[in-house]
Amino acid sequence: MNERTPVPEGLTEQMKHLEAEAARAFPTPAEKQYPLPPSVVDASDYTDPNLFDREMKAIFHHSWFPVCPTVDLRNPRDYVVWDRLQQSIVIARLDDGSIAAWHNVCQHRGARLLKESGSCKGGRFACPWHGLQYDLSGIVKAVPLKESFDAARLEGLRAPAVRATEWGSFIWLCLSDDVPELEPYLGAVGEELSFYGLDRFETRFRYEIELNANWKVVVDAFNETWHVPFTHSVTLGKFVLWRDAHLRITPPHSWMTLPLKGFTDRMGDADHRLKNICHYTAFPNTVFSCFPTHLQTWNVWPVSVDKTIMTAWGVVGPAPEGVSEDDWQAQNQRDWDHFVAVSAEDAAVLNDWGTVSHSLGAKQYMFNTAESRLTAFHQEVARRVAAATS
Ligand code: FES
Ligand SMILES: [Fe+2]
Repeated sequence: MNERTPVPEGLTEQMKHLEAEAARAFPTPAEKQYPLPPSVVDASDYTDPNLFDREMKAIFHHSWFPVCPTVDLRNPRDYVVWDRLQQSIVIARLDDGSIAAWHNVCQHRGARLLKESGSCKGGRFACPWHGLQYDLSGIVKAVPLKESFDAARLEGLRAPAVRATEWGSFIWLCLSDDVPELEPYLGAVGEELSFYGLDRFETRFRYEIELNANWKVVVDAFNETWHVPFTHSVTLGKFVLWRDAHLRITPPHSWMTLPLKGFTDRMGDADHRLKNICHYTAFPNTVFSCFPTHLQTWNVWPVSVDKTIMTAWGVVGPAPEGVSEDDWQAQNQRDWDHFVAVSAEDAAVLNDWGTVSHSLGAKQYMFNTAESRLTAFHQEVARRVAAATS
């Protein structure tokens, strides 16, 4: 008989401890801290204008991204004019509470219909060039000199609609009809985010910065933590346990848990979202950096191969019990100021990166295993560009 030798009682606790240590040091593949092997990309991936154009079409024309907080469309007939990605899109709150989005381009001869965000009290507006009238769902309602047009061309005329949906306290857009609905698109990252109850959250802070760097290096900069002790030695280095970040690749998206010194350990077996900063990147350009009570969300918007705009929102949940609204606002203001200071540190490195990105000395860049999220991101970009051009 092959009986196991009984373990002396005093040793059991010690063995449990050793098992736990071993599990921490050698996680199972599914839980591996750094899940992908090292990889390499060509430096020209960040500087090639032709590749940039292909990325815009293959990726940004076929993805979902949040474009504004729902608070920007609080009342019926409020509208937002969104100008990014060489597009201008109007998103409007209709009288029945739903939203409509459409291209901000007159269907007569291409004038820009609405200059900037606002509220349309009468529910209709006229093109500034020859006066075609539209309603807030983008439908043409009146045409001056109507009889001088080919009647068939006016039938059902409208500014082309854009897919839009409200989710997690944001309005999201998608420029393509061949992409799944938002929730299936977000997949595991959407399920993770659902935990926070974001519909109860409200955007209270905003920030925008232009960076002289390619959009992908800006995404890269936010998807690894081992720059923390160097770029953010004072602002983050002391309380973020950057070495203990655990990365998760859930293609096309990725996320990581980032423990906090003196806090995460004390929270014991609590859900990972209650005791860590949980950092989610929804492909291609949206980051959610979540605390249980508030989060920062930011987007990376390509402008040209060497220029990128980053927009960020500070999103705040309801005041915890026993905390006054004033104290809550002051606390969130401090958090937001801290976020802006940290972002400025990243921006300084990224702008300097841009000054040498065309250097003859920039040939290939390496991603180590701690940069697995970057490897996964670049693989996804390359896969989509290749699929679109094949
Ligand atoms: S371009 Fe709008 S009415 Fe002519
Ligand atoms: Fe950073």
